[in-house]
Amino acid sequence: MKKINRRQFITLAAAGAGTAVAASWMWERVSSSQLSAKPAIDLPKLHKSNNGLLELNLEASNRAVKLGDKQAYLLTYNGQIPAPRLEAKPGDTVRIHFTNNLSQATNLHYHGLHIPPTGNADNVFLSIEPGESLNYEFTIPSNHPAGTFWYHPHRHGFVAEQLFGGLAGLFIMRGELDEIPEIKAAKEEFLVLQDFALDGEGRLMSSAHMSIMTGREGDVITINGDPNPTFSLPAKGMVRWRILNASTSRFYRLSLENHLFYLIATEGGALTEPVEISELLLTPGQRAEVLIKADQKPGKYRLLNLPYDRGAMGMGMMGGGGMMGRTGMMSRNEDTPRVLATINYGSAVKPASLPKKLSVIPALPKPKQVRRFELNHGMAPGMGMVFLINGQPYQNNRIDTQVKLNTVEDWEIINTGVMDHPFHLHVNHFQVISRNGQPEPYPAWKDTVLVPRGETVRIRIPFRDFAGKTVYHCHILDHEDLGMMGTLAIQG
Ligand code: C2O
Ligand code: CU
Ligand code: CU
Repeated sequence: MKKINRRQFITLAAAGAGTAVAASWMWERVSSSQLSAKPAIDLPKLHKSNNGLLELNLEASNRAVKLGDKQAYLLTYNGQIPAPRLEAKPGDTVRIHFTNNLSQATNLHYHGLHIPPTGNADNVFLSIEPGESLNYEFTIPSNHPAGTFWYHPHRHGFVAEQLFGGLAGLFIMRGELDEIPEIKAAKEEFLVLQDFALDGEGRLMSSAHMSIMTGREGDVITINGDPNPTFSLPAKGMVRWRILNASTSRFYRLSLENHLFYLIATEGGALTEPVEISELLLTPGQRAEVLIKADQKPGKYRLLNLPYDRGAMGMGMMGGGGMMGRTGMMSRNEDTPRVLATINYGSAVKPASLPKKLSVIPALPKPKQVRRFELNHGMAPGMGMVFLINGQPYQNNRIDTQVKLNTVEDWEIINTGVMDHPFHLHVNHFQVISRNGQPEPYPAWKDTVLVPRGETVRIRIPFRDFAGKTVYHCHILDHEDLGMMGTLAIQG
C-alpha cells in the first residue's frame, strides 16, 4: 500500500494580480428560476439495467423539494435532488427518454463514460429546447471499466446555472472492482456533494447576484440533498464511499476525524492498490472511491470540509461595489473547517481487511505528439471578461484540436492565470504523467485534473474506439460558460 503525504495532493501557489474590468454583461444573465414549481414526485431513486438494458424516462423541470427541513425550489431530474442513480454493466444498452421542461435549452452529458460523442449518445452539441424531448441511446463497450461516473446538463452558456440548480446524478458502472471480496464485504455508500445559494424563500439566487468569474458557490452544502446527514459505520467493519463533487465551482477538501481514507478509485476507475491519505481534495467534476476502516472507539465523528484557497479575481477587477451577492467573492475562502456530516458507529461486525491488488494500469507509450494548452483569462471584443484556452474563448463552429483515433498524445496544460482550473476531457480517460516536471506518485485513470495557478500538468491520453467531435474544458462551469472550453475532433 502506498502512503502519500498531503503536500503531494495540495499545491498552494501565490495568486498574482489581476487586471481591472467592468462587468456589465453579468446583469444580462438572469436566472430563469421560476416562482412556481411543481412539488417533488416519488419516483425510483435508482434505475438498474435489466437483461442488458437500462431504460428510463428522465424529465428536467423546476420542482419544490426538501433540503433537510427547508423547502427549496430547484431544477431537478424526475423531481429529485440529487437526480436518480443509474447503474449499468459493460455491454449494456442505455435508452433514456428525455424531456426538457425547463425554461431554457438543455441536453445531457455522461461525464466520464467512454461512449461515442456523436449522434444521440454523449453529444454535447445537441440542444433540446423547452418542451421538447429526445431519446438518448448508446451501448456501453464490453470492456468499459467499473467506476463512479455521472450525468449533468452540457448546453454551452447555461451549464453553470443549470448544474447549480441541482441537475446532477450518478451513473455507476458495475464490474470487476465490485467483485473484489474485501470491497464486496464493505458497506457501500454514495455521496453526492452539491452546494446551493437560496434566498429567504428557498428560491435559487439569480446568476446576476453570483460571483460567476470566481465561480459561483452557495452557502448551503448538501450531501445527497441533506445539509446535515448522518452516516453509520459498522464498528470494526469497513465502508466504501463513492464520492462525487457535483458542485459548480466549490472544491472539497475532505477529512474524517480520527480516520484515514484508503483511496481505491479515481475518475477513470480502480487504482492498482489502495493509497492511504488523510485528506481528499475533490475539484468540481471529480470522483473518488475510498475505503474507511471503522477501527476507532464507537461514538460520533465529523466529516469536515477543510479550507482551500483556489485563487480569485482581485477586488479591483469588479469595477466598484454592488457586484457581490451574499456569496460574494470575499466569502469564498472559508478559513475554518466546516462540518458536512456526522458519522455514527453502529454495532460490531467482524474485522475487515483492506484489499491488496485492485487492478492493472498499463503504462502508456511515450508519444511524439505533445500539445500545449495555456489556461488564462482576458478581455474579448464584444464579450467582456472571458476565460481562455491558448488565448481564445470557446467558439461553437471552430475546431481547436485535431487528433487521430488510435494514437496516444501528451498534453501539457499550463495555468498562467490567478485561479486554479480543473481541466476535464470528454470520452477518453487519461493518466497524469507529471506536475511541474515531478512524476506522479502512482498511476491512475482520470478525466479531470487540477491545474493549480502557476503550475504545469502533463497528461497522456489514448484516443480509443470513437471518432467524432467533443470538448475539453475547465470544470468550474462558470469558466466553461465564459469561454474556457475547446473543441476536439477525433479523426477515424
Ligand atoms: Cu462534467 Cu464537460 O463535463
Ligand atoms: Cu464531462
Ligand atoms: Cu477554471
